[in-house]
Amino acid sequence: MNETIDTILSHRSIRKFKDEKLTKEQIHTIVRSAQQASTSSFVMAYTIIGITDDSKKQALMEISGQPYVKDNGHLFVFCGDLHRAHQLRNKADKEQQELITETIESTEQFIVTVIDGALAAQNAVLAAESMGLGACFLGSLRNDINKVSDLLQLPNHVVPLFGVAVGYPDHQPELKPRLPIETVYHENSYMEDEEQEELINEFDLTLKKYYDSRSTNTRIDTWTEQMIRKYSNPQRMDVSAFVKSKGLNKR
Ligand SMILES: Cc1cc2nc3c(=O)[nH]c(=O)nc-3n(C[C@H](O)[C@H](O)[C@H](O)COP(=O)(O)O)c2cc1C
Repeated sequence: MNETIDTILSHRSIRKFKDEKLTKEQIHTIVRSAQQASTSSFVMAYTIIGITDDSKKQALMEISGQPYVKDNGHLFVFCGDLHRAHQLRNKADKEQQELITETIESTEQFIVTVIDGALAAQNAVLAAESMGLGACFLGSLRNDINKVSDLLQLPNHVVPLFGVAVGYPDHQPELKPRLPIETVYHENSYMEDEEQEELINEFDLTLKKYYDSRSTNTRIDTWTEQMIRKYSNPQRMDVSAFVKSKGLNKR
């Protein structure tokens, strides 16, 4: 083990922050760390928008329904971004220009924006955690993805992916268990369903015990029940049309 692994294995989402803003230097270090993540073909297909305007924070909090979108040390919104790359088409010849638009609007390039944004964000979160800060990803911003896009004045070929709230932790939640390692790491071929099912049953018992033993928010729940609830409750089904309306994932 080393300090980096310790930081990674101590991760838990923080949803309650002390009333203390991040300094400019802290924000700079976090964003620089995000930037140093690997990036597909050196495209750097993301933009990070820091929200310092209280009325915008309030609006984003209302979209997410989660108070820690407003009450934190700093709020970052990670966006998938191929606008920058698309702008370069003005410097290409006519034939290349059409191909550039076609490529940028493909599913493959949309996947690149999501991967690049997620890698940058995970680096940002780890950097923050290594500095004694806590963080929470905020997919809840996609509850109204059109409104977030309008609020942040995102141009074509830019989509909001998620937020990340960062700040000084004001609670210390227990570490949340993960699926047994054999469930997520298979060797040479995908695991048999029966084998996987057994491991999930085992995990359901682990999770039941975890929820039961938590110092706050105790509940009776299993992973199986959570996933059934999640996937039988279609959410954010407007995201697909929104992404296409922004000129991404079109073909
Ligand atoms: C892309 C993404 C979006 C998430 N969105 C939210 C969110 O909107 N609100 C929230 O409270 N937690 C959110 N989370 C945090 C997860 O719920 C959390 O990581 C998971 O339950 C595991 O808990 P842990 O991070 O404490 O280990 C999100 C996590 C990821 C990776």
